[in-house]
Amino acid sequence: MQQARLREVRWEAEGILAFRLEPPDGGGFPAFTAGAHIDVELGAGLTRSYSLLSDPARRDGYEIAVQLEPGSRGGSRAIHERWRPGDMVSISAPRNHFPLVEDAPHSVLIAGGIGITPMLSMIARLEALGRSWELHYAVRTRARGAFLDRLEPYPSAGVTIDDEPETPRLDLERILASAGDAHVYCCGPQGMLDRYRSLGEGLGERLHYEYFAADTEVARDGGYQLRLAKRGVTLDVDAGESMLDALLNAGVDVGFACSEGICGSCRVAVLDGVPDHRDLFLTEPEKQENRSIMVCCSGSRSPVLTLDL
Ligand code: FES
Repeated sequence: MQQARLREVRWEAEGILAFRLEPPDGGGFPAFTAGAHIDVELGAGLTRSYSLLSDPARRDGYEIAVQLEPGSRGGSRAIHERWRPGDMVSISAPRNHFPLVEDAPHSVLIAGGIGITPMLSMIARLEALGRSWELHYAVRTRARGAFLDRLEPYPSAGVTIDDEPETPRLDLERILASAGDAHVYCCGPQGMLDRYRSLGEGLGERLHYEYFAADTEVARDGGYQLRLAKRGVTLDVDAGESMLDALLNAGVDVGFACSEGICGSCRVAVLDGVPDHRDLFLTEPEKQENRSIMVCCSGSRSPVLTLDL
């Protein structure tokens, strides 16, 4: 973690504040690539990830934007209520689970709501490289449309405003069907991402997506057992620890990255039992099938959960 000074807090749109962070001693922050995010520390062990929306060529500051989630129990609410210009905050070095393929012949960017943030750094990078791109950005109302002014100079940026029927409708099916050899990126709410992933299945590795920063709570109620089928061992998950904690404490080498149910790297197959899904990665049908679980944040609804580990 490193310290950053909150240089600027700006009202960006209804329910959305934008923040500019700068190194406290001048100089520069670590470099980042388009699509990267940082984790911010919010006290009491709480961290949240936010996409960097600034130009990756700039290292004199990072910009993020935070949408106040109605059900927030600490993440976005703590930021909206407490962060003031001049405060010092702890942030991680940038990491990227949503990288841009820089040599693609064309890039199609699709954003819903606050999902516009990683697209802004991608647009800056694509412009710097002189690459061809198009953006499809959907917002519910004009008042909730963040960064509309930044998109104005670009004819290839299309904005759909749900309650303004004269704006073009976001037609995911058509966009994906006409993607040709482009790489396609989507960041938005779960329903949009689920639809995008199912419609775009045929694009294979050219289909990229990122869920919003999670504002869900990691399951730490414990009180259940994990049966690891391959190892033939059973572990207790105690109150206060996550499933991932229990696995790592037992020396089980399970891969993970974001630790908040976004990236998909900790997915494990479930052989028996009912998970308490807390992630944003699995689609709703996948969650209902209960055949896999994101062990970084999810728990168990059954007293015993058998995993393919
Ligand atoms: S580590 Fe990213 S989803 Fe679990």
